[in-house]
Amino acid sequence: MAGLFSTKSVDQLIADSESHVHSLKKTLSAWDLVAMGIGAIIGTGIFVLTGVVAIRYAGSGLILSFVICAVACIFAALCYAEFASLIPIAGSAYTFSYASLGELIAWIIGWDLILEYGLSTGAVASGWSGYFVKFLGFFGISWPTRWALSPFSTVMIHGHLMHGIVDLPALLSTLLITWLLIVGIKESANVNNIIVAIKVGISIFFIGLGLYFVHPAYWHPIVPKFVPSHSAPRSALNRKSAAETPTARSEKRGINIWKTELWKLIAEGFGYHIQQGFGGWAGIFLGAAIIFFAYIGFDAVSTTSEEAKNPPRDLPIGIIGSLLVSTVLYILMAAVFTGIVKCDGTLKLSSLGINKRAPLVYAFQLVHNPWVSKYAAFLITIGALCGITSVLLVELLGQSRIFFAMARDGLLPLWISQVHPKYRTPWIGTLVTGIAVALVAGFIPLGDIAEMANIGTLFAFVLVSGGIIFLRKYQPDKIAAFRTPFVPYVPILSILFCFVLMMSLPVVTWIRFVVWLVIGLAIYFFYGVKHSTLRNGVQPTSTSSSSFSSQ
Ligand code: ALA
Repeated sequence: MAGLFSTKSVDQLIADSESHVHSLKKTLSAWDLVAMGIGAIIGTGIFVLTGVVAIRYAGSGLILSFVICAVACIFAALCYAEFASLIPIAGSAYTFSYASLGELIAWIIGWDLILEYGLSTGAVASGWSGYFVKFLGFFGISWPTRWALSPFSTVMIHGHLMHGIVDLPALLSTLLITWLLIVGIKESANVNNIIVAIKVGISIFFIGLGLYFVHPAYWHPIVPKFVPSHSAPRSALNRKSAAETPTARSEKRGINIWKTELWKLIAEGFGYHIQQGFGGWAGIFLGAAIIFFAYIGFDAVSTTSEEAKNPPRDLPIGIIGSLLVSTVLYILMAAVFTGIVKCDGTLKLSSLGINKRAPLVYAFQLVHNPWVSKYAAFLITIGALCGITSVLLVELLGQSRIFFAMARDGLLPLWISQVHPKYRTPWIGTLVTGIAVALVAGFIPLGDIAEMANIGTLFAFVLVSGGIIFLRKYQPDKIAAFRTPFVPYVPILSILFCFVLMMSLPVVTWIRFVVWLVIGLAIYFFYGVKHSTLRNGVQPTSTSSSSFSSQ
């Protein structure tokens, strides 16, 4: 019987996939894969979180936040590209780690990917909701604000702070997409290419038109001046008592330790007093840790591996190409946004009112040009709605494929991948995921979900990068068509960058993440260990009821 760290050989993974999944039509070209990646990447991050990050944390330093994330992602993408070209099988990072780091780590990563694919869909749906409400507004229809916000979110309407009840558009849109995935909507390359063309076109339109209205002075200084967010007396900041814990000291100074970045709490532990506030490098890194959400998705290209015409060559092009195109667009869009909206720490996010979740529209409403305010804002709303819809589809689809791969290996119950007799889709797994995500989207604030998705994805990047080092050491005969350059330096840099971004996330996100992993480990030891096909030497059952091919 195999142990916790037994790996599945690359050949075995390929054989298992062939015995299970109906042979998918290999139709996707390199260009389709780049478009697929862009389809999965550009969404709520740029269309919604840009405003949150620039106004609350990073100011004009948002541009640097995007650059920092891009560097981390490029290192990670080089590692993903090698794995994808070597193991062109559904399951993404889960499958890669099964091949390189062993079953336990593969389980942890598969469980962790639920945060990336499942949970981030909740945040994406919440972003969709903001633009949907805006869209209705162009036709004079006003959706009740309280029914478009989670109960934990607030917005300022006519000078009154208002709490939400449930984000109904987010909840319903998730259920609608779930239904589409169950009845077998084909996220075909052609449809995706059209959506991608619309959203890239509208992003370029935002940049082109926006550059005309920017005030370059708003970009200075690029690292905004730090503005402390609390008014604790200076003397209190410097006094420290040996008997006090870092937590007690922080609370005494009026800092909410749950919302503090982890590195600041650790610094407190060493006796350094770090203030909370807007701007500075701390604001830029906190901003980067949140805006990282915008980059999630390039790895989703690897979930379509089995449909690529020439996976070893085209998957790396899809992963790296889509990341590079998105990076260029993001940096330019961030420059335009911060060049139009003065983000110097004095603007409050709640004062954007209903535009809180449609900040790019808000930017164009500031230019005091009726044509731009109306028609350009309308176009951006359409682009955001189309763009975010494709992210929703790809993420939910990716989640169902990861569950499928885990159930095939016996780590989850086989019924999860049960196929609908008529639609030939894994309907139970998709339905369970869809309902859970819809509830998250309806009731949890966007920021909290995005932070959880980020920590989960960053952790997956760390493990995949580590996996490349292990693969080279322990399976040196496996030569992929695309090889990560400068191993082990590139994977190590990837791990370091991801780790820095993880440390910039709030303490509460870390606690939730650790709880999530502990629950996952409990499930593995109570269920996965007993049912794992690899550990028990069982050949995966080859039945059409556990395969799906129609998506
Ligand atoms: N990167 C995706 C988005 O921003 C998840 O919506």
